[in-house]
Amino acid sequence: MSAPLSTLLPRRLLLSAALAVAGLATGAGAFAQAPIVIKLSHVVAPDTPKGKGAQRFKELVEERSKGRLKVEVYPNSQLYKDKEELEALQLGSVQMLAPSLAKFGPLGVKEFEVFDLPFLFKDDAAFRNTTQTLGMELFKKLEPKGIKGLAFWDNGFHIMSANKPLHHVADFKGLKMRIQSSKVLDAQMRALGAIPQVMAFSELYQALQSGVVDGTEGVPSNFYTQKTYEVQKHTTVSNHGHLAYALIINKKFYDGLPADLRAVVDSSVKDATTYANAIAATENQQAMEKIKASGKTTVYTLTPAEVNEWKLALMSVHKDMEGRVGKATIESAYKASGFVLPK
Ligand code: LMR
Repeated sequence: MSAPLSTLLPRRLLLSAALAVAGLATGAGAFAQAPIVIKLSHVVAPDTPKGKGAQRFKELVEERSKGRLKVEVYPNSQLYKDKEELEALQLGSVQMLAPSLAKFGPLGVKEFEVFDLPFLFKDDAAFRNTTQTLGMELFKKLEPKGIKGLAFWDNGFHIMSANKPLHHVADFKGLKMRIQSSKVLDAQMRALGAIPQVMAFSELYQALQSGVVDGTEGVPSNFYTQKTYEVQKHTTVSNHGHLAYALIINKKFYDGLPADLRAVVDSSVKDATTYANAIAATENQQAMEKIKASGKTTVYTLTPAEVNEWKLALMSVHKDMEGRVGKATIESAYKASGFVLPK
């Protein structure tokens, strides 16, 4: 008479065999499919409109895909800095990004820099109308680069900072000002008499603190979360430019997703975009209040006459940049934003 199997095999082995059979029957346990991971890398703090939008996207995707998709958000240039992150996206090392529209030049897509033309947008509505028309057209230019544009996220108007008051155009003379990689922003700083310096966002605080650059433009939510206002004695509310992001995805990855998961990504993009765009203005206002309350920088708002002085100095940039972004692109932007040349 042979002994029963259970007396011959160690208990632990029997247990794992039983678990494996159960797993086979239910499709669970060791045989469950690992989720598809979307790495979303960005350069700002989690507590910003973009950071919060990315977090909302993650929550929506994971809930709607019932765990079949996992979104890993990497803020604060943890994975990649500005230029590297676009290369990483093309290589598929990350699947999604949300760079500012001022950062597509190194990729060979210069037209997005039209969004950097000084004083192009009179308000958020003018900006949004331009992304929904011209912006959507420009997304097509990313496809040959292996990138698909999903949505535009707004982050409001640029202000300026330095260690001296910036009220008049003459105040910029000789100042080294950090800019994003856009050639339009380069031309803008030169038209003001400053010396533009392209620099990754992650290096900004240190560059200001050590005096490698004298000042910068940016939005309050970034000034506040990066603490740059602590090392800039003066801040000017000028609203001369606009900051916005393109939420983008590696095209091969997106096209390769099962159709139902692609639909989850699409619907989550839509709702996260509504959310990010809804909070941007308030988040920036609150950041501005906190910067003022800190007492570390003197905040000055340009008078209408000073705004006009800046506009007149900067309008040459629109003409000069026709060669860079294209006359037709500028005309489309004018039409969509309702821009009229100042007198
Ligand atoms: C900057 O580099 O100043 C911004 O593009 C950072 C950001 O993503 O808001």
